[in-house]
Order: sequence, then structure tokens, then C-alpha cells
Amino acid sequence: MSNSHYRPLDTEGTSSKNIGNGYALRSTSSAIRYHWSKSTLTRKILAFGMLVFMLVVYLVWCALAASSREEISYAAAPYLKLQRSRQTSATSGFSRTQFSTYSNTQKPTTRMAMHHKSLPKSSAVSRAVNESLVVCSEVFVDSRAYIQNRPRKDYEQLPIIYFVTPTYPRREQVPELTRLAHTLLHVPRIHWILANDYGTCNVFLDFLLNKFGIPFTHLSSPMPFSYRKKKPMPRGVANRRAAIYWLRQHNITNGILYFGDDDNTYDLKLFSEIRDTHRVSMFPVGLIEDYSVSGPVVRKGKVVGFLDSWVADRHWPVDMAGFAVNLAFMSEHPNASMPYKPGYEEDYFLRSISLKLDYIEPKGNDCTEILVWHTQTKSRNRSIVRINREYLDDRSNLGALFKSLEIMGVSVASETEGTCFSTVLFLLPKTEIEN
Ligand code: UGA
Ligand code: MN
Repeated sequence: MSNSHYRPLDTEGTSSKNIGNGYALRSTSSAIRYHWSKSTLTRKILAFGMLVFMLVVYLVWCALAASSREEISYAAAPYLKLQRSRQTSATSGFSRTQFSTYSNTQKPTTRMAMHHKSLPKSSAVSRAVNESLVVCSEVFVDSRAYIQNRPRKDYEQLPIIYFVTPTYPRREQVPELTRLAHTLLHVPRIHWILANDYGTCNVFLDFLLNKFGIPFTHLSSPMPFSYRKKKPMPRGVANRRAAIYWLRQHNITNGILYFGDDDNTYDLKLFSEIRDTHRVSMFPVGLIEDYSVSGPVVRKGKVVGFLDSWVADRHWPVDMAGFAVNLAFMSEHPNASMPYKPGYEEDYFLRSISLKLDYIEPKGNDCTEILVWHTQTKSRNRSIVRINREYLDDRSNLGALFKSLEIMGVSVASETEGTCFSTVLFLLPKTEIEN
């Protein structure tokens, strides 16, 4: 028999002492010892330890509650303060509007209060995210004379598609946007919201956007630094949130919203399909993860489920490119927003507009066609070409070429580092140099 055991109190008369939790440790000897301490000092240390432990548990709980509030909150945009530095460039006709983050502790200025009048109440919310937004340039006039062989005015009655493209500086940015611009060039009644994940306005992007005659808005909407450190990062979220904010700012409650990443491939039929969206339309996206496809399961013209290789605990397991939303419907949900929650951006956005299964309109011949592909470009760091400055003068194209490659973030010329510039010495083919 062991020399000690637990048993309920008060079943053995007065010899056991109640220590408050209903159970006492009983020894075979007459001395009764409390099971959790040997001396006053140990008891004090234990009590203090428990207090500290409870404090830590409380603090962790508070932190978790705060972070889940932040991530799941559908607060549209943080308090943004319009600095109203509308600078109109005489040459380009661009307008530039500067917004910056407004901390909740600051008192709103009159101008800011006026600015917020036009916003739904719930967008003046309370998120401590350090977001910033600058409207770099925008053009509302469509200067394409013909679209798909028909005069532009033939399309005037169509609702506008607001095509929101998050983008970010890297070697492949300009090629991706050039390809996308050539697709959008054939789409009537479109407003391209290009939101760049970068802290300043990239003039080269303005130049690119202006070449096509497509109405556009170029936003500078950098990812807040705290999210950039996270793994995985919430890619494209700051950009899309900025676009949602911009739509609210302009009180746009007509038209169709579509989130179209800069590296996807779009069939022109996608645009005619989504233009007819009453609430939310959905369609399959090709090349998604393990199944190479993600999209709705449709039976008798109704969406009854979803096919996706990563369902996790998502209520709406769809890709960002797999749905479009009518802005009139979205405006009925002033809390519509996208959280910084990698993997769950689409799901929480669709939850924030209170989507219901029977609202979903399947497109692409009852979701049997792929009208958008999740193509991904292999990404590499920009190159550094080691080249003597003397070759970058106006005797050849090299100076201008490297200047534009540098502006596009593709490649830079350097005298001190990088891959040696040996083969084109004085513009002669390598063989001639060697001979
Ligand atoms: C997939 C989905 O298709 C995206 O819609 C989703 O945002 C993303 O996963 C995610 O949840 O992380 P994927 O091809 O894996 O897309 O991601 P990227 O194409 O690298 O990024 C999505 C968009 O965000 C792109 O338009 C990209 O230009 C932009 N992005 C990416 C940024 O703005 N900043 C970055 O640092 C990275
Ligand atoms: Mn992508």
C-alpha cells in the first residue's frame, strides 16, 4: 500500500483538513500535510507563481482576442485623412490626391470630417493598421475609338467593370502589366484600378497606363510594414483594400467589381460573362494548386458546392479570380472588406458581403469553361550587369537601354558589381573580338 493517497474530504471525520479544493492528501502518519506545499515560503512562491501564470494567460488571451478582431474585422478602411494635395500636372493632365493614415487617437480636422461625410459610417473604423493610399493619377475618359471592331459608343449602355489589379515592383512587373493591358484594351466599359504595393508613385506606370486609352486609376498602396514581415505575407491585400476604399470615396454603387491579379491570363469572354452579375457570379479558375482548377460545382444551373484542393475551414473556398460582385449589392454591405489573412482573403471578403449559396450565379456555361488562368511567372531578382560607364554614352543604344531597364526594375548597370560585360565590347560580336 502506498503511503499516501487522495480521497474526498469529510468522509473520514475531523482528521483531514479542508484546503479549499475539496481534496486533501492523507498520510498514513498522524501528521497531515497539505499536498501542494511544504513550508510557508514554498506556499508563497507557489501562490506568486500561480498569479504570474494567470497574468500571462490573461495577457495572451487579450493579445489573441485583439489580433482576431483585427484580422476578421470587416472594417473597410482605416481612418484615412485626405491631404488634398491635388496636383494637376500641366503636361499629363493627371490628378494626384494624397491620403495618409489617420490614427484614431488624432482629432479629425474639419476637412477630414467633411471628407468622411460621404462615407458610410462603418468605414470610419478603428483599425490600427498603418495603411496609406495615394491616388497617383487617374483618367476617366475612354480614348479608344474602336473596341473589338465596333465604335466605342456602341457599348455606352453597358455597366462598367472595375478591374482591380494589385501589383508590386519586381523584374516581371512591366512585362506582366504590358500583357494585361493588351487584354484590357479589347474590353469595353472598363475602369482599371492598378494598385501598386509601393510607397511612392511610379511615373513609369503612369506612362504605361496612358498608352492604351483605357480609363484607369493608379494607386500607391503599400503593404503595411508589419504585414510584410509575416510569413506568409498577405499579398495584394493592401492594394485591394485601397481599391475598395477608392470605390467608396467615389460613391460608386453601379457596375461590377472584379479582382484581377497582374499575372493571370484572361479570356475576353470572361468580361462579357461577369458584366451580367446581379449579386455575385462565380466560375472556375484554371491552374490552381494541386487540382489545376478551383471552382463551383453546379447542378441544374445552381451552385451546390466547390472543388478546390485546399478547402481548409473556408466557407467559400474560391480563388480571388473566380468571382465578380455587383457594386450595388456590395454597397448594401458597408462593412465589405478584405482582411490581412493569407489564404482567407476571398472567404472573408465574401462573408463580409453576406453571400448566400443561392445568390451565386454560375458563369462560363454552367462552370464548364475556363475563362481565367492562374498563370504564375517565375520570379528572379533583377540582374546587375557589370559595365564600364564609358559604354553608356550616346555612341550606342546602351545608355538609353539600361536607363529604361533600370526604371522598369529589370536590370541595372554597375561599374563595380554584377555579371561581367564582356561579349559586346565596342559593339563587336564576340567572335570578332577574339579573332
Ligand atoms: C494567389 C491568389 O490568386 C491571389 O489572389 C492571392 O492574393 C494570393 O494567392 C495570396 O493569397 O497570397 P498567387 O499567384 O499565389 O495568388 O500570388 P501572387 O500573384 O504573387 O500575388 C497576388 C497579387 O498580389 C498579384 O497581383 C501581385 O502582383 C500582388 N502582390 C504580390 C503584391 O501586391 N505585393 C506582393 O508583395 C506580392
Ligand atoms: Mn499570381
